[in-house]
Amino acid sequence: MKIISALATGVVIAMATLFMWQAATEKQSTHLGTHTKTKDIAMKPTNLTLLGLTYPFTLAPLPYDHKALEPHIDEATMRIHHSKHHQAYIDNANKALEELPELQKYTLEELLTNLDTLPESVRERLRNHAGGHFNHTLFWQMMTPNAQLLPTEKVATAINQAFGSFDAFKELFNKAAQSRFGSGWAWLCVNKDKKLVVTSTPNQDTPLAVGMFPILGLDVWEHAYYLKYQNKRMDYITAFWSVINWPLVEKLFGDGLTAVE
Ligand SMILES: [Fe+2]
Repeated sequence: MKIISALATGVVIAMATLFMWQAATEKQSTHLGTHTKTKDIAMKPTNLTLLGLTYPFTLAPLPYDHKALEPHIDEATMRIHHSKHHQAYIDNANKALEELPELQKYTLEELLTNLDTLPESVRERLRNHAGGHFNHTLFWQMMTPNAQLLPTEKVATAINQAFGSFDAFKELFNKAAQSRFGSGWAWLCVNKDKKLVVTSTPNQDTPLAVGMFPILGLDVWEHAYYLKYQNKRMDYITAFWSVINWPLVEKLFGDGLTAVE
């Protein structure tokens, strides 16, 4: 009886081992199947590179104190906006890329200029969250506590040429920011013809996706202003003009002229 019992136990162990091996093999072949499918994505290179960040994305500290932009942008908003909202975009972009290791080598800009070629399983998530990471990383740098109120020389000249005057540009930008329905961004960009244009994008869409190089952007999501300004978006837009980092805008303008060539 002992021999029969030992034999039966042996058979059970052997069957269990076989079953586990088959399950592991199936899992592996599924993974390899996905691997093969995404390896062939035809990602086009882009010159529209501003940040060049790649996976895993991390939250950089603000380039100034949370309260440094007071009274124009309040400390509580900056703290929540940066450490919660921006962090969430980063976490979700990283999660999407964890599923497709083949995409991890690409920069934010490459991902965002190739949205149509990304697999559907991650396309919308990367559009929203990689877009959110890109937009916010720029946004923090585009503001400064030591702001000059007028653009520096080259940008000032280009603005006058494109829009007639600084005031006319300001009016156009304010209108783009105010009239963006729901959530989104207002932008000053260099377009494919090397011209300055004012535009706006919904949600976390970026100007990169339509071939434009952003040099100034304003976040008009309610999370960017509601604590201080509640429903008065225009007051927040007006305050933004007091914190613009014009030397950076000038640098990006130069970069943009080269990038869109
Ligand atoms: Fe935001």
